[in-house]
Amino acid sequence: MRTPVIAGNWKLYKTSGEAKGLIEALLPLIKDVKGVEVIVAPVFTILHRVGELIGGSRVKLSAQNCFWEEEGAFTGEVSPGMLLDAGCSHVIIGHSERRQYFAETDETVNRKTKAAIAAGLKAIVCVGETLEEREEGVMNDVLTRQVTKGLDGLTSLQAVIIAYEPVWAIGTGKTATEAQAQEAHRLIRTVISQKFGVDSSDKVRILYGGSVKPDNVKGLMSQPDIDGALVGGASLKPESFAAIVNFGK
Ligand code: 13P
Repeated sequence: MRTPVIAGNWKLYKTSGEAKGLIEALLPLIKDVKGVEVIVAPVFTILHRVGELIGGSRVKLSAQNCFWEEEGAFTGEVSPGMLLDAGCSHVIIGHSERRQYFAETDETVNRKTKAAIAAGLKAIVCVGETLEEREEGVMNDVLTRQVTKGLDGLTSLQAVIIAYEPVWAIGTGKTATEAQAQEAHRLIRTVISQKFGVDSSDKVRILYGGSVKPDNVKGLMSQPDIDGALVGGASLKPESFAAIVNFGK
């Protein structure tokens, strides 16, 4: 039995004051939900503050990125150990926006994932094909490559969550259909079982991301290989994020 995960990726939104309003409104709305892991991922500058705001609640704290070195002359970077120190338990790695705008590759994703896990964080590793790749019929190759290279060298997936985010569905309002998402999740689980064995592939959580909203989350979550959601836009409002966390009601 895989515990569902609902994670909110705030991207480049929310000052500390705005985050306070969001968290204070969110906590009462999700306090009765059981059996769902809830994560929020604010920008670096307010991680510590959001950690204080979520306090002893069930909500966990994630960063949106990290570097692979622990310290050194790397101006502008943040290390996994520093994220732990700021109160994070999780870090998102290799989001498609980082691959697209900040030149991240499967190799950098792999280095970051290994460093994050070695430091004691849980890594939310993102994969997903572009529209062009889907239309060219190379989706399976792309996902296989991203999963294989991104997780290369790991001996266990205990500290890994995968997020499948088709690039064409992010911020576009075009959600993958339940069947499209399930097909991709199934493929990812098969690749993982070949690389890490059936026990690991049975246990690893695979989240779907891309225009997840209160009105489509239930259908997505009803699919056998979809174990949660990585939510962008709809995680910025307490009502919509709470409704997604409450998908089982
Ligand atoms: P949207 O939910 O805004 O489409 O964003 C998805 C995403 O990229 C989450 O990481």
